[in-house]
Amino acid sequence: MKQRVGILTSGGDCPGLNAAIRAVISHATLTYDWEVVGIPYATRGLLERASVPLTMHGLDLRGLDPLLNMGGTILGSINHGDTLARADEVIAGYRELKLDALIVIGGDGSLKIVDHLAKQGNWQLIAIPKTIDNDVALTERAIGFDTAVNTITDALNRLAFTAASHDRVMVVEVMGRSAGHLALQAGIAGGSDVILIPEIDYSISDICQHIDELRDRWNRKFAMVMVAEGIHPAKDSLSCAGQSSLPTPGHGMGQYIADQIINCDDHLVEVRVSVLGYIQRGGIPSALDRLIAAAFAKVAVDLVAQGKSRQMVAWQNGRVAVVELEDVLAQSPLAVDPHSYLVETARALGIYIGN
Ligand code: F6P
Repeated sequence: MKQRVGILTSGGDCPGLNAAIRAVISHATLTYDWEVVGIPYATRGLLERASVPLTMHGLDLRGLDPLLNMGGTILGSINHGDTLARADEVIAGYRELKLDALIVIGGDGSLKIVDHLAKQGNWQLIAIPKTIDNDVALTERAIGFDTAVNTITDALNRLAFTAASHDRVMVVEVMGRSAGHLALQAGIAGGSDVILIPEIDYSISDICQHIDELRDRWNRKFAMVMVAEGIHPAKDSLSCAGQSSLPTPGHGMGQYIADQIINCDDHLVEVRVSVLGYIQRGGIPSALDRLIAAAFAKVAVDLVAQGKSRQMVAWQNGRVAVVELEDVLAQSPLAVDPHSYLVETARALGIYIGN
């Protein structure tokens, strides 16, 4: 009998989701002759018993296929909700929509929820990792990360010119939640002088000393300071700025670092802050993200055909591997290893990255 396979995207959107959806449609249709349906707005679609048919080249009257290079997700997504509170209704949605299997493209938060539902409801579930934060364990890359790194790197290139023209310190805050992968990789690629990530302690006086040294020793009159949104305040921050309350990670850490530098630096440098925000999640997916999306989708569809469940496709050593979703979730969100080669690389280049 013809299989009916559902696909949904869950959590924060990112570039490359539509490329993965497109690849699932192509492989499932051409190789297996399955029926593919999209579940709109993640588990909310299951709750509302909603589905949309997904066919080859079905989106454009002229037969044009826009999915490959379109950012966001045509299926919509949710990054919050009461899915688990209404688990029984969501679980029943899978049966009522007559799904034989479900492919979920999500980050660790979403995958945790759907894995729970799949276990309870005995669904056939295959996961594809996506997140600009790149903090899903057991995969070196998730869909969306490469494009976000490129977007941030491009922003740093632009910001460096304006910072240099005015001899300013430019503090750039990027996303990443509790992990510093985005800040670290884009910071190195984009030429940051300071990179602050949640996984490594830093001190305000060391940052200011580093900025002074850039100017006094190397005649660099501006500085680029990369701040991951999830950093914690520095231990020496109160003594420098005399602030009565410190911010919490995820809430204005770029501005906090800027205030600290202004208060601490003897030379009264001019400081500006740029919070890159949701621009990091938008845009056309990079070639690498499209490639990974295609390779992930191919294997995910094959896993469905093999009757596998609660497994995730992963990127390891330049190719797709298959891992148990349970193992992934036990180790996620994945933090930056403070002893990794990239951290060592940053230090070797003279970037201040903390202790
Ligand atoms: O997980 C992806 C991410 O973009 C994080 O980097 C960021 O902290 C968060 O989502 C923002 O979430 P929301 O879309 O709910 O504001």
